[in-house]
Amino acid sequence: MLPGEVEKREVRRAYNEMGGRLYDLRYREEQRRKFDAALSRVSLSEEDLVLDVGCGTGLLPEEIGRSVGFAVGVDLSQALLSWARSKLREVQNLDLLLSDADYLPFREEVFDAVFAITLLQNLPEPRKTLSEAMRVAKPEAPIVVSGLKKKYGKKEFEDLLSSTGLRVREIMNGELKDFVAICGKKVS
Ligand SMILES: C[S@@+](CC[C@H](N)C(=O)[O-])C[C@H]1O[C@@H](n2cnc3c(N)ncnc32)[C@H](O)[C@@H]1O
Repeated sequence: MLPGEVEKREVRRAYNEMGGRLYDLRYREEQRRKFDAALSRVSLSEEDLVLDVGCGTGLLPEEIGRSVGFAVGVDLSQALLSWARSKLREVQNLDLLLSDADYLPFREEVFDAVFAITLLQNLPEPRKTLSEAMRVAKPEAPIVVSGLKKKYGKKEFEDLLSSTGLRVREIMNGELKDFVAICGKKVS
């Protein structure tokens, strides 16, 4: 059994039970505010290959869809992914994959931007998750990570990001339920 497998199964079960329809009803507006905050700092282009780790019901791909070259969303919950697939079936430049954020099925340094919005609270080893996000990001790619304020203090969140080797450019606070951090890889 892989590390954290039991906790991950529990998380997956909870999201599968909730299902995509209820997730969207409950969280769509809240998540959109976080995306808007992030997208006010990160500019994406029509050439970009973008990864959304823990994409859930595909709310972020839905928002950025037509303004990027191609988006890939990965998530552990089959139920949320199947809801996302049916909602976004017309979107051509999008792939949604069932995958664990800690074992991403991609080569090193392929994505022009990586997002992980309200994901880390679900992960038993958040440093491992962040390292995977860094591994698949191009050297100059923005890596946008949010952390629930219910789970992290601002300093604790910043320390977590920095200790993984991320260069934290800005942490947005405002009225959001998450801290939204705009990061990049450290320049060596
Ligand atoms: C609070 S939701 C956020 C979803 C999406 N990022 C959004 O902003 O709406 C957390 C998501 O993380 C996913 N998740 C939890 N653990 C995961 C893991 N180990 N690998 C991939 N996704 C995971 C859940 O299935 C859920 O869709």
